[in-house]
Amino acid sequence: MVLILGIESSCDETAMAVLKDGKELLSNIVSSQIDTHALYGGVVPEIASRLHVQNVSVVLEQALTQAGVTIDEIDAIAVTQGPGLVGSLHVGLQAAKTLAAAFHKPLIGVHHIAGHIYANALVKEITYPMLSLVVSGGHTELVYVKDAMQFEIIGTTFDDAVGEANDKVARVLNLPYPGGPQIDKLAALGKPNYKLPKPLDDKSYNFSFSGLKSAVINLVHNIKQRNEEIIPEDLCFAFQNAWIDVIINKTRNAAKEYGVKQISIAGGVAANKGLRTAMTEMVEKDLLGTDLILPPLWCCTDNAAMIAMAGHVMHELGLSSPLDLGVKPGFEME
Ligand code: KG4
Ligand code: ZN
Repeated sequence: MVLILGIESSCDETAMAVLKDGKELLSNIVSSQIDTHALYGGVVPEIASRLHVQNVSVVLEQALTQAGVTIDEIDAIAVTQGPGLVGSLHVGLQAAKTLAAAFHKPLIGVHHIAGHIYANALVKEITYPMLSLVVSGGHTELVYVKDAMQFEIIGTTFDDAVGEANDKVARVLNLPYPGGPQIDKLAALGKPNYKLPKPLDDKSYNFSFSGLKSAVINLVHNIKQRNEEIIPEDLCFAFQNAWIDVIINKTRNAAKEYGVKQISIAGGVAANKGLRTAMTEMVEKDLLGTDLILPPLWCCTDNAAMIAMAGHVMHELGLSSPLDLGVKPGFEME
């Protein structure tokens, strides 16, 4: 039996989980700070670090108690090393290093996005090569996963991440933070009414969403100048379809070129209903024989189960980190 303790604190969630044999989640505790940051319209890094310090011991106690294990029984401690907010990352890493040193456990530094990708392994066995579409608040990437923990970023965003663009557009429409889920709900009620440009709709696998975001801002401005009412549902419909269309086209092209056996979606925006439907329809229609993993909603947003899962795979590969491991706010995945 292999027990991995996962620790995640890269942004605004203090989370710990205990994973047994890479399959069974014995506990998965997430203490979210979202209500506090929502008061400011976004994550305030200094407040995030302080709340992590307040929460970290309680979350650890709950994760072990709920799992029904003691720290002595844990085989390795997997922790998010980066990317993320420097102060927030420090709290989780310091906790992990303290436990590793005090209880003589191997320490495994995990890349946050590798965690998001391996969240999919909690649902279904990963078949390589896999193409993972990573869509979160800070990342928009097409990642070719050739084999276990072997990542090649074949496309990325030149500017805003898709989650970031969602949050900014939501702010223009006076929707509360985080805006992505709000836009998703309204888009489902919208009709084709507004025209927006498709962002960087070319043959490359790269993305750009700031132009689309500016187009929404200009459109809202023009509507207001004409003293007309904005129809938020229709605007969300147009915005969401614009970014989903481009993402779907590029995922289809990349899957064909790289001949992958499986496609997965990872990150907070993987919870988007419009994206999940469009991806399912595209794979059924154009990529016959390719398997699709849609992570359940609970493992799309930041959690430690995904860090424990990635840690389990690294543990199996014999990978571990030294006790003087430092945080890497700009950690590169490749
Ligand atoms: O992965 P995540 O929890 O944090 C990062 O590592 O960035 O992603 C958070 C992002 C936020 O921008 C949020 O607005 C977006 O995911 N998000 C969504 C949805 N749920 C969360 N965006 C679109 N549709 C959703 N349903
Ligand atoms: Zn994340």
